[in-house]
Amino acid sequence: MTTERRRRVGLVGCGEVAGYGHLPVLLGAERLDLVGVCDVSTDRLAAAPVPARVARCTSLEEMPDLDALVVTSPAGVHAENVGWAARRGVPVLCEKPIAVDAATSLAMVEQMEAAGVPLWIAFTYRYSPVARRIRELVATGAVGEVRALRMVFLWDLHGAFQDRVARTGVNQRRVGRMREGGPLVDCGVHQIDLARWWLDSDLQVDHATGLWFDEIDGVDAPEHVTTHLSGGGARVLVDISFAYGHRSPSRLPTFTYEVIGTDGVIRYRREERDFVLIDGDGRHELGWAHEKSFEGMYADLAAALHGEEHALPTGRDGLAATRLALDATSRAVAAR
Ligand SMILES: NC(=O)c1ccc[n+]([C@@H]2O[C@H](COP(=O)([O-])OP(=O)(O)OC[C@H]3O[C@@H](n4cnc5c(N)ncnc54)[C@H](O)[C@@H]3O)[C@@H](O)[C@H]2O)c1
Repeated sequence: MTTERRRRVGLVGCGEVAGYGHLPVLLGAERLDLVGVCDVSTDRLAAAPVPARVARCTSLEEMPDLDALVVTSPAGVHAENVGWAARRGVPVLCEKPIAVDAATSLAMVEQMEAAGVPLWIAFTYRYSPVARRIRELVATGAVGEVRALRMVFLWDLHGAFQDRVARTGVNQRRVGRMREGGPLVDCGVHQIDLARWWLDSDLQVDHATGLWFDEIDGVDAPEHVTTHLSGGGARVLVDISFAYGHRSPSRLPTFTYEVIGTDGVIRYRREERDFVLIDGDGRHELGWAHEKSFEGMYADLAAALHGEEHALPTGRDGLAATRLALDATSRAVAAR
């Protein structure tokens, strides 16, 4: 019996999402071997939750040989990390948004295509059992023709303050995300990607408005964006906020999907743990789950690296969602 070679994976950017999402799942993946992590911050590198056998590097040049690179650095650094992988012929799974502007996003996709190396985007929401079920129900006509999607995510990105109870300091993480394009570019790309995936169609931006709460130096983007898009015979509403109760010591996030069809409705409410289909026969419980899944995504990465069938979102998917998010955000700014 031959044993399958585990694929060697490196990760660059040992921050928040790497710590709670990527690294624990990568370390537990049966068909993947985490061989190196990289960060420019020696503190972050030292704190990375990985065993001693994993190489810790302050530069990608020090990484051991890789079958794939996972990019979890800030969006403004993705192009630099992906460029390194393109030059070495290493496939990449890159966090969203692909980059903070359309020209860089396109250049990254073209550079990887020219090198003949796969670029996949970490749209983790696609791997939730919820998102997969909605895609399957839409494709099989369970709600008839989809006429509208309503996708709402109102939260505060951990609040305005560094210490939200004492109301002191500034939450620099929230400021950083605003500098990277605001809620639609940073977060709403997930919803836009799901809409494209569920409707199996490209979209266009019809309308966008914004709300501003704080003045942040050098930032034009609103902290709350409401945009209407259309495509695949449906209207898509994405309503997304980084300022919903952001001055409060407690939080009250709202995360919902509604798929409104000619013959029924699918409704997902994350906080209420509610996921139902309502059709001509009545109400059907669909089985609530979290809105994202790193496990599902890494199972697909393992399949892709072993030459098996997979459904990883491509760099072109990342480019399309990022362009739409940037377009809607600039329309909201222009309409201020
Ligand atoms: N898919 C999801 O559900 C999800 C959730 C959160 C964040 N994200 C995305 O993941 C990415 C990272 O987000 P985060 O919240 O973890 O950010 P973070 O700031 O917490 O972590 C980024 C890390 O990258 C390091 N870094 C910066 N420049 C670097 C460079 N040139 N080379 C190597 N390392 C470098 C930083 O020191 C830091 O440790 C962003 O693109 C973000 O939008 C995705």
